[in-house]
Amino acid sequence: MQLKEAMEARTSVRTYLPEPVSVDDLKEMVRLAGRAPSLNNAQPWKYYAVVEASRCQRIASLVEQKLHTILPEPKTDAQQKATSKLFDYVGLFGRAPALLIVATRIYPGFLDDALMTTGLAREAADAVRGHPYAMSLGASIENLLLAATDMGYGACWLTVPQVASASIERDVGIEAPWRLGAVISVGRPAQEAIQSPKKPIEEIFSVL
Ligand SMILES: Cc1cc2nc3c(=O)[nH]c(=O)nc-3n(C[C@H](O)[C@H](O)[C@H](O)COP(=O)(O)O)c2cc1C
Repeated sequence: MQLKEAMEARTSVRTYLPEPVSVDDLKEMVRLAGRAPSLNNAQPWKYYAVVEASRCQRIASLVEQKLHTILPEPKTDAQQKATSKLFDYVGLFGRAPALLIVATRIYPGFLDDALMTTGLAREAADAVRGHPYAMSLGASIENLLLAATDMGYGACWLTVPQVASASIERDVGIEAPWRLGAVISVGRPAQEAIQSPKKPIEEIFSVL
């Protein structure tokens, strides 16, 4: 598959065939994710592969438990619908044949020294710089999604699991200054991909 074809074909895939994903394939996706640009070439990412069904389910149940503690009992139909959709998605990722747990970290960039001499804390300096560590991680994850598409897999980038970041970090063994950055579910697509609608070029591009 050519790069442009993979970019056109990529879409978030949340349901998978019950086929295992080989660790070699996950490793190749992560190798390509590691080719992404990052501020100062700091490469603020570590990918942990989870291929045991019971462990995937355990991670999803950590998210479910946390959601139950932070979301009030739904009172309206709209709340009920929104909550059950959320839990459905969590259930789906728990049944994925593989998860990639992605750790990231805030790290000093070349602007930090200057910003921090003004008394700004590192996290505040990071916000002033527009969170380049998060941008760097996003570049790496997009590479991974394109690699997965190219290799015939479907994948979904998930940030809902962030609600349970402390318990997932404990489960996986992610230690400070590293923190949970995202979870990606991976597997062979269970059905033909449905492309999400995208804005037309006229809406997102202009020449000044
Ligand atoms: C930063 C980020 C966070 C996301 N978090 C979730 C998530 O927690 N759960 C989920 O099902 N999809 C999640 N997605 C997938 C988006 O819903 C999806 O990319 C969007 O609907 C567009 O669809 P497409 O990926 O098929 O183009 C996330 C995507 C991004 C980039």
